[in-house]
Amino acid sequence: MNEPGSRVVVVTGAASGIGHATAALFRDLGDTVYGLDIRPSVPDGVTYVECNVGDRASVLAAVETCAADGRIDVLANVAGVVQFGRIDTVTEEEWDRVHAVDLKGPFMLIQAALPHLRACGGNIVNVSSVAGNKAQPYATAYAAAKGGLTQLTRALALELAPEGIRVNAICPGTVDTPIVEQVFHKLTDDLDTRVADRLMMMLPGGAIRPDEIGSAIVYLASPQARMITGEIMAFDGGMS
Ligand SMILES: NC(=O)c1ccc[n+]([C@@H]2O[C@H](COP(=O)([O-])OP(=O)(O)OC[C@H]3O[C@@H](n4cnc5c(N)ncnc54)[C@H](O)[C@@H]3O)[C@@H](O)[C@H]2O)c1
Repeated sequence: MNEPGSRVVVVTGAASGIGHATAALFRDLGDTVYGLDIRPSVPDGVTYVECNVGDRASVLAAVETCAADGRIDVLANVAGVVQFGRIDTVTEEEWDRVHAVDLKGPFMLIQAALPHLRACGGNIVNVSSVAGNKAQPYATAYAAAKGGLTQLTRALALELAPEGIRVNAICPGTVDTPIVEQVFHKLTDDLDTRVADRLMMMLPGGAIRPDEIGSAIVYLASPQARMITGEIMAFDGGMS
């Protein structure tokens, strides 16, 4: 059960970056992979399911499609949006948008998928962020949402442990994806670079590759990780 090659895997945010790489890795193992996103550019061999993770009706419809066989072996909550800038500039609309996608989205996906995860002893991997673990400047809405996702992971891991359902999270540092460009082009003169630089301490070798995070997701979802739950795995080159 849940052996690679025979699993039903749901990856949100599969149209770009980490989610795209993760969906491709599961596909390469022979799993049946559903890529949920608002955009259709999922990898070849991955079934695209249109889904706005911040919208309950959209989430329920997407999960129903993915669980056509009555099971979901792996739910990888990867979709996310970023926010960057001083707190003075965060609008209520932006706060709500970030929380809808980055925190409420995984909550709704998990709630909808749970019966199907229970049906086959599946597991969940959430992509949080280094911002959910340590102080990251100029990211109050994002850090609050990701901190919430980190704690949701811990709380749920304990709650579902008696049922054998594992829940883990990965907290990436700087990964080479389009989301990062959205942050760095906002590094204006107005921001104190001494504060921003505090975050950038990382092992040499450049940014983390999306497939490196994807490999960690694949591992946490695998039978080899059967005794790992509630783990908040930093994957950040030492940032945290
Ligand atoms: N790239 C980094 O440095 C970094 C660092 C820490 C955490 N993360 C997290 O990794 C995850 C993936 O980010 P990425 O770097 O691959 O970014 P990305 O922008 O390349 O991919 C994000 C994907 O999420 C999708 N998405 C956005 N809103 C959505 C919605 N409402 N419903 C469904 N899909 C939606 C986008 O269409 C896109 O395909 C995010 O949760 C992000 O917060 C990224």
